[in-house]
Amino acid sequence: GCKGRCEASLASNYTNTSEFADLDWESLGFGLVETDYMYIAKCGPDGNFDKGDMVPFGPIAMNPSSGVLNYGQGLFEGLKAYRKSDGSILLFRPLENATRMQTGAERMCMPAPPVEQFVDAVKQTVLANKRWVPPTGKGSLYIRPLLVGSGAVLGLAPAPEYTFIIFASPVGNYFKEGLAPINLIVEDKFHRATPGGTGGVKTIGNYASVLMAQKIAKEKGYSDVLYLDAVHKKYLEEVSSCNIFVVKGNVISTPAIKGTILPGITRKSIIDVALSKGFQVEERLVSVDELLDADEVFCTGTAVVVSPVGSITYQGKRIEYAGNQGVGAVSQQLYTSLTSLQMGQEEDSMGWTV
Ligand code: COI
Repeated sequence: GCKGRCEASLASNYTNTSEFADLDWESLGFGLVETDYMYIAKCGPDGNFDKGDMVPFGPIAMNPSSGVLNYGQGLFEGLKAYRKSDGSILLFRPLENATRMQTGAERMCMPAPPVEQFVDAVKQTVLANKRWVPPTGKGSLYIRPLLVGSGAVLGLAPAPEYTFIIFASPVGNYFKEGLAPINLIVEDKFHRATPGGTGGVKTIGNYASVLMAQKIAKEKGYSDVLYLDAVHKKYLEEVSSCNIFVVKGNVISTPAIKGTILPGITRKSIIDVALSKGFQVEERLVSVDELLDADEVFCTGTAVVVSPVGSITYQGKRIEYAGNQGVGAVSQQLYTSLTSLQMGQEEDSMGWTV
């Protein structure tokens, strides 16, 4: 359980009280900008996390024999805080990240922090690093919760101790293209996930395993890789760091969640937003052939938000999606709806912001 006080303590004793950190807010990309504080809580063999502390951001000591360093027992999450024009700060669906971490922890044989502790710790981290939340319209504060097996093991087994860390960094656009459409290549040799594997949870190993395909694609000038299912090598799965959607007329299709695809919170939110705008949404097997006659393709993710896809190359053939400067009307509409909710510019009838 969540021992001790779980309320977000107002950061009265933090030393940096200036409204904004000294940073060039005009040129944020998606790289680490070190902020002032991070949250750390630990959990021993009893499965209970201590109440946690805000500590100065910096390196952590880790046993070289820890479960995470040796056997990859680790999970991460990602969420964003936006500054509203009135100066207040909004989080987008933090409860979803808390529950997804619980599901992932179960798969990885780890204890997870209780949802209230998770959400409270996220709030504490944002408040402590408030001066790093970009001005309205300049980006967001990306929040990165980590849950790792920090206890020592030698034989293969779950670690005897876990560390829950949250750090944050101000970010702008994920892709170097900014808001311009990205160019993807369909990967038919490397696979991201297999049935029965861990593709459906946010374990750190899923991301290390796609680096090779991503590196090759980037060397050829593509923005990222679109993976196919490992069994039939025919159905779309996801991009290295985001989910994928295909638009044809009024129908928006996306691969169904079946254990090999990360259940994205932005994915889920876009489905609901699209339904509320009168689109028909289908979660199903989406064949790679459907890319050929799609009207638009876009990616979703916390980091990438809604990123329009300008072209997809499959077996040497390049399919282009035109639209207005490559941004299709549907992708544009969904991007605007989602971001106005996230930034508090539109009434949050969904109750998603905190
Ligand atoms: C996110 O979108 O928050 C992710 O976790 C993807 C990551 C590769 C940046």
